Amino acid sequence: MPEHAVIGGTGLEKLGERNGEKRVVATPFGDAEIHCSRDGVAFVSRHRADHSLAPHRVNFRANVHALSALGVKNVFAVYAVGSITDALPPGTAGVVADFIDFSGRGGNTFFDGAAFPLKHADMTRLVCEPLAERFARAARECGLPLRERRGVYAMTAGPRLETPAEIRALRALGADFVGMTMGTEAPLCVEAGMRFLPIAFSVNWAAGVEKRDGVGFISDEETAEISEKITRAAVRALLS
Ligand code: HPA
Repeated sequence: MPEHAVIGGTGLEKLGERNGEKRVVATPFGDAEIHCSRDGVAFVSRHRADHSLAPHRVNFRANVHALSALGVKNVFAVYAVGSITDALPPGTAGVVADFIDFSGRGGNTFFDGAAFPLKHADMTRLVCEPLAERFARAARECGLPLRERRGVYAMTAGPRLETPAEIRALRALGADFVGMTMGTEAPLCVEAGMRFLPIAFSVNWAAGVEKRDGVGFISDEETAEISEKITRAAVRALLS
């Protein structure tokens, strides 16, 4: 039974395939594909191995419910983001302090009074500090520098990127970076009673932040390198 999980998205599409045996777990919300390694770590690739599943089509409830049913207690969730402030410039990684959900997307609760009784989850302690400490140590050992200041993640619906005006608005509202998944996934992990550590790495300056035509991304090689190091550090931290 895996006690730990790593959930990855962009840059970590092959996370599951590379790291364990595939299991299809049936849940009240549909089937979830989970890969389980021999040393007790479960892996979920949010967008599937071929990056075919758009953010709004990911079955977050099935994924988190399946992990919980398998016995997972500790979740490292890795998010590729676009940078709004210099809390997390492109090519760098760090722990996420908090999030703001601007997506208007549903599917972000188990406790809706239908599938499970209505409850109001406390979101004030999102980050598991003991996990963060273990991750910081493992990151140092894996040569992965982490940003000191933890930033705020803004979630938009996607799959389109934001407009420059939207990014200016998100900055004014306190966001440091923007992505399309954490605001749905994080509350589910909290509701499931898991210890949760959200880690972001930036792959671009968000729309309009740079004086250039269009959004520019770091290279696929750089994305692969940083996401690989984050996974290695996460697994090391989980098994330490
Ligand atoms: N916007 C939203 N999500 C993202 C971005 C972005 O610029 N980059 C990576 N995920």
